[in-house]
Amino acid sequence: MTDLLKNRASIYTEVEDYAASIDFPIIEPLVGVLMNQYAIMIKAKRILELGSGFGYSALWFSEKMDSTTEIICTDFMEENKLLAEKYFKKAGVKTKIDFRIGDAIKILDEIEGEFDIIFNDVEKEDYPEVFEKSIPRLRKGGLLITDNTLWYGKVAQKRKRDYQTVGSREYNRLAFTDKRVLSTILPLRDGITITMKL
Ligand SMILES: C[S@@+](CC[C@H](N)C(=O)[O-])C[C@H]1O[C@@H](n2cnc3c(N)ncnc32)[C@H](O)[C@@H]1O
Repeated sequence: MTDLLKNRASIYTEVEDYAASIDFPIIEPLVGVLMNQYAIMIKAKRILELGSGFGYSALWFSEKMDSTTEIICTDFMEENKLLAEKYFKKAGVKTKIDFRIGDAIKILDEIEGEFDIIFNDVEKEDYPEVFEKSIPRLRKGGLLITDNTLWYGKVAQKRKRDYQTVGSREYNRLAFTDKRVLSTILPLRDGITITMKL
């Protein structure tokens, strides 16, 4: 299906090739378009990414967006920030970008105000904590989008009890039982859970 997106700008394939060369996990194009579509649909003006890597997912969020939208990126690694800034410049990104270094969950605690979208791509064992901390921080109708929620199908295999699978499984349980939200899981790539705040 990725062939359907072969006309995407060359910056995407450049970042994809680099990610593949160092075996770095990124959301990939189909999920990128999906996130861009949601951001446009809900007229997102403030997006927080938890775990930005070197900016591939933020590139997709910034697509067709202008300077009235702000994307706050987070990552542990200063090198990722520098690389992301290089890619954003090359892509001619028009959105405001605020790339913060540190623990994304602490940054979520520290940063003020509401978000239209929180995109969660941190370690799976932290997913339940991210859920609890993110929902109060979304505006009504805002989205919490979480990647890898099928975790290679392991979430459905009850015998799998490793901490990443347990984190993803518990995350989905919260997303589907919490009365403050409405959720779906799309089986795109490794599964993406879309949770809307009611
Ligand atoms: C799976 S990669 C995804 C990158 C990006 N979202 C993309 O798709 O292009 C996850 C990134 O999140 C970072 N990360 C994981 N947990 C984090 C945390 N708690 N705080 C900050 N960064 C985190 C890692 O360093 C890594 O660069």
